[in-house]
Amino acid sequence: MSELSNRRILLIDDMPSIHEDFRKILMPATPQSVELDEMEAALFGAQARPERPLFELDSAYGGEEGLGKLIQALQEQRPYALAFVDMRMPDGWDGAKTIEHLWQHDPQLQVVVCTAYSDYSWDELLDRLQAHDRLLILKKPFDNIEVQQMANTLLTKWQMTERASLQMHHLEHLVDQRTAQFKQASEDLQREIDERKQLEGQLVQSEKLASLGQLAAGVAHEINNPIGFISSNLGTLDGYFNQLRPLFDAYHSIGQSLGGESAVRLQQQREAAELDFLLEDIPLLIRESKEGIGRVGQIVKDLKDFSRVDTQQQWQWANLQQGIESTLNIVASELKYKADLVKDYQPLPDIECLPSQINQVIMNLVVNAAQAMGPERGTITLRTGVEGDNVWIEVVDTGSGIPADTLQKIFDPFFTTKPVGQGTGLGLSLSYGIVKKHGGDIQVRSELGVGTTFRVELPIRQNRLAV
Ligand SMILES: Nc1ncnc2c1ncn2[C@@H]1O[C@H](COP(=O)(O)OP(=O)(O)O)[C@@H](O)[C@H]1O
Ligand SMILES: [Mg+2]
Repeated sequence: MSELSNRRILLIDDMPSIHEDFRKILMPATPQSVELDEMEAALFGAQARPERPLFELDSAYGGEEGLGKLIQALQEQRPYALAFVDMRMPDGWDGAKTIEHLWQHDPQLQVVVCTAYSDYSWDELLDRLQAHDRLLILKKPFDNIEVQQMANTLLTKWQMTERASLQMHHLEHLVDQRTAQFKQASEDLQREIDERKQLEGQLVQSEKLASLGQLAAGVAHEINNPIGFISSNLGTLDGYFNQLRPLFDAYHSIGQSLGGESAVRLQQQREAAELDFLLEDIPLLIRESKEGIGRVGQIVKDLKDFSRVDTQQQWQWANLQQGIESTLNIVASELKYKADLVKDYQPLPDIECLPSQINQVIMNLVVNAAQAMGPERGTITLRTGVEGDNVWIEVVDTGSGIPADTLQKIFDPFFTTKPVGQGTGLGLSLSYGIVKKHGGDIQVRSELGVGTTFRVELPIRQNRLAV
């Protein structure tokens, strides 16, 4: 018998004789029927024996007792399919009240109201119970066959309802499962698209860096030589000029002491050549040229760092916190008039890195943050922390923010929005290269007019194969 085949019936009636009657009608265990069974078995074989409608009948003699049996049956997961309920029971609940209680606990239960006369009109009863499709009325005195047929039909109805609800559940479950699968698939797809976009971006960035790196290395190498001799020559020239100066002074005073026409001619020539101006201007020109070539030298050095031609540095375990502090000291004058510094540090473990390069990254970020401030004094917040196998540093400023269309260019070499002389546009591309070399990541979030956050993540331990 399948689980759905429920033959359990509950009879609730205060009259014991009614229970007797129902038992006879619904459970006629007569020898006759046993004989009949045997004959059928002989004729059709045990398997082909048609199933006789068997009922399991429980008795309760009042509404409360009936409810108790129903609750117990539910707890044992052997629910009743059908209840016959007498309408008029003088002690305790009447039929209508009993049915209300039964349905509160088991809305599936099919119910037959048995009555000879009613305290309610039928309309009133149906209205009160609000469940016309689960309720039949059986008027006393009743026919045996009527009761049997009701029981049979209502048990089948219970089973069909149960099966339909199980199938509904199953379908709902399937739909939920499918929906979840679709959702998962779509999330996976989105993630893949995002990853791809990010990878593409990184690829473009690292290709740009690689080709620019080679170019920069070549240019730096080529320029380094002339810079060397130009600045050395300027130094020498400065020296030579300083040697010549007393000579000019000597010529001048001797010329004046000569007197006469030669003194006048000497003076005229001196004026025509603007000797006084030249003597004043030449050292100035030399100084400016020295400064200029010094700047070129700095840019070439940045270029060299950027292209990583300088490989002398050593990987070592270093304390990032110390690096941050010393870097802040170096740039203190840059920050002093622009922003207040807020430090929000967590203790950091030593990390395996190229310390001077990491310092350079921090310096670039902090200087950029200071330069992003408007006329009003702002705040720069430095945060650090550990997450899994990484440490992170955040530089948060309350500066100008970066427009969305600029955001994708800021890591490009030579991209700058600053006036000539203030920005080279190398800071961030350099930093990007350094962080990538460490197997880390650098991210930026920015809101125009509100500020910018740069976040650098660095692995604590280097996986050298990847470097
Ligand atoms: N904290 C920041 N706030 C606003 N803009 C920034 C910030 N950091 C970088 N930028 C933008 O990114 C550009 C590139 O920065 P960077 O590579 O350091 O070069 P530079 O500072 O020499 O211009 C800057 O010119 C600026 O437009
Ligand atoms: Mg910069």
